[in-house]
Amino acid sequence: FKVPVAVNEPIKTYAPGTVERDQVLAAYKELWNANTEVPLYINGKEVRTGDTAAIRPPHDHQHVAGTYHRGGKKEVQEAIATAIEARKTWSQLPWEQRAGIFLKAAELIAGPYRARINAATMINQSKTIFQAEIDSACELIDFLRFNVQYMTEIYAEQPESTSGAWNRLEYRPLEGFVYCISPFNFTAIAGNLPASAALMGNVCVWKPSDHQMLSAQVIVEVFREAGVPDGVINMVNADPVMMTDEVMTHPDFSGVHFTGSTSVFRSLWTKVGENINNYKTYPKIVGETGGKDFIVAHSSAVPAQVATAIVRGAFEFQGQKCSAASRAYIPQSMWSEVENLIRTDVESFKMGSPEDMSNFITAVIHEGSFDKLAKYIDAAKNDSNADVVIGGNYDKSKGWFVDPTVIVTTDPKYVTMETELFGPVITIYIYEDDKYAEMLELVDETSEYALTGAILGQDRYAVSQATTALENCAGNFYINDKCTGAVVGQQPFGGARASGTNDKAGSKLNLLRWVSPRMIKETF
Ligand code: ALA
Repeated sequence: FKVPVAVNEPIKTYAPGTVERDQVLAAYKELWNANTEVPLYINGKEVRTGDTAAIRPPHDHQHVAGTYHRGGKKEVQEAIATAIEARKTWSQLPWEQRAGIFLKAAELIAGPYRARINAATMINQSKTIFQAEIDSACELIDFLRFNVQYMTEIYAEQPESTSGAWNRLEYRPLEGFVYCISPFNFTAIAGNLPASAALMGNVCVWKPSDHQMLSAQVIVEVFREAGVPDGVINMVNADPVMMTDEVMTHPDFSGVHFTGSTSVFRSLWTKVGENINNYKTYPKIVGETGGKDFIVAHSSAVPAQVATAIVRGAFEFQGQKCSAASRAYIPQSMWSEVENLIRTDVESFKMGSPEDMSNFITAVIHEGSFDKLAKYIDAAKNDSNADVVIGGNYDKSKGWFVDPTVIVTTDPKYVTMETELFGPVITIYIYEDDKYAEMLELVDETSEYALTGAILGQDRYAVSQATTALENCAGNFYINDKCTGAVVGQQPFGGARASGTNDKAGSKLNLLRWVSPRMIKETF
C-alpha cells in the first residue's frame, strides 16, 4: 500500500514580475472574453439541453462571461443510469488505478490547469488571486493527494488472523451511487465531494452550484484528462428540488455528500426519511453546513493578534466561508485599541475586481446575498442596541459590493450575533473583563451552530477554561489564530450541531463514510 507521501502544495505568491502572475492574468483575460459554454457531463459526453442561464461575474454583473446548460428530469435520470452502469467496472478496478487517476488530477491542477482554475474561480466566484490559489489550486490538490494516502492507510487496517483462519476486511464501495451537492464558495470542495467518494470506488451524480459553473467545468476537464472513466462522475446542473427528488427517491441512492446551507441539508434528511423503505441500503448522509463562528478574546490576549484574527477571519473572501468569524467577544479593557487596529486595516483595503491584484475585497456572490446583507446592516443602523462602527456602505451599481462592516452591540443575543449572514459583517459584543465565565456561557447559548471558533489569550488557565466551556461549540478550534483556513492533512475540517455531521473533510473519517466493508474469514 505504498503511494507517494502526501505533501501540501506550496502557495504561489503571484508577486509582480512572477511567471504565475502573468499566467493567471492571461488566463483571466481569455476566460473573461471567451463566452464559455458549460454543458452537462453525462457518461463522459457533453450534453447541451438548450435551457441555459448566464454566467455573470459578481464584481461586474452586466458582463456575461458565458452560459451553462440546465438539465431536466431526463438528464438526471440518464446521469443516475449511467453511474449505476459505470459502477460495475469502476468498483472492480484495483485501487492502484483509482489512486493513479486522482494523483494525476492533482498534478494537472498543480501544473497545466492551475492558471485556468484560478482564473475561473476569480471570475465566477469573485475570489482574489490569493483566495483562489489557496482554494482551487492548493486545497484541491491537497484533498486529492492526501485522500490517496488516507485510502491506503484505511486499506492497511486489517483484523488479526490466526494460522488456521485468515481474516480480511475488504473496504468495498457503497452499493448504488452517491449524490454530491457542492456550494459556490470553495472550488476545492466542489472537486473533493465527488473525488473522495469516487476514489473509494463509488460512482457519483454531482450537482454544482449555479454560481460556480466555470470552475466546475475545469474540474470535470481535469478529471477526464486524468482518466476518470465515463459515467463515474456525472455533472448535472438542474433545478435543485426536481433533481433531489429524482435522485433521492431512487432505490440505488446510497449516500449524499453535501456542503451548503443548514436548511437544505435538513430537507435532505427529511427526504431520506420519507423514502427509507425504497432504498436497497441505508444511505450515508454526510454534510457540512452553516456556521456562526466566533472569536473570543481574553484580557491577556495580544490586541494586534485579536484585530488580525477579526480582519482576516471575517473579511477574507468577503466573509463567505462557512468558517468565517461573524461574532466576537472582546473585553472592555481592550476594545478601543482593537477597534483602532481594525479600522486602520480596513481603511487600507482596496475593493474592486480581482483582476486588480491590489484589491483585498471584491464582491459578494449575488443579488440575494447583497440584499440580505444590506437589510441587516440597515437594521443595525436603526437599532438602539447596535452601532455600525466600521463600514456599513454598499453599492450594487457595477457589482455586489459590500464594505467590510463591524457592528457593536450591547445585546449579546442581537440578531446578527445569532443569524448567519454569509458576508463581510462581524458583530462584536464587548464584555466586562471580570465576566469571562459568563461570557463563555453566552457563546455557547447564542448560536445553534458549531463549526469553528478562535480563542485568543496568553493566560493558559483562561484558554483552558474556554476550550472546556466551549467544547461543543465548534468542530475546529484555533488558539491565538483566526478561525478560517484549515489545511488538508493538518486540520481535518467539520463541525457538529447545525453545522453538519462532523465527518472531517480531508481525513480518513470522511473516506470511511464511502465504504461498506465486507469481512471475509477463510478457514484452513
Ligand atoms: N475549510 C475552510 C476553512 O477552514 C472552510 O476556512
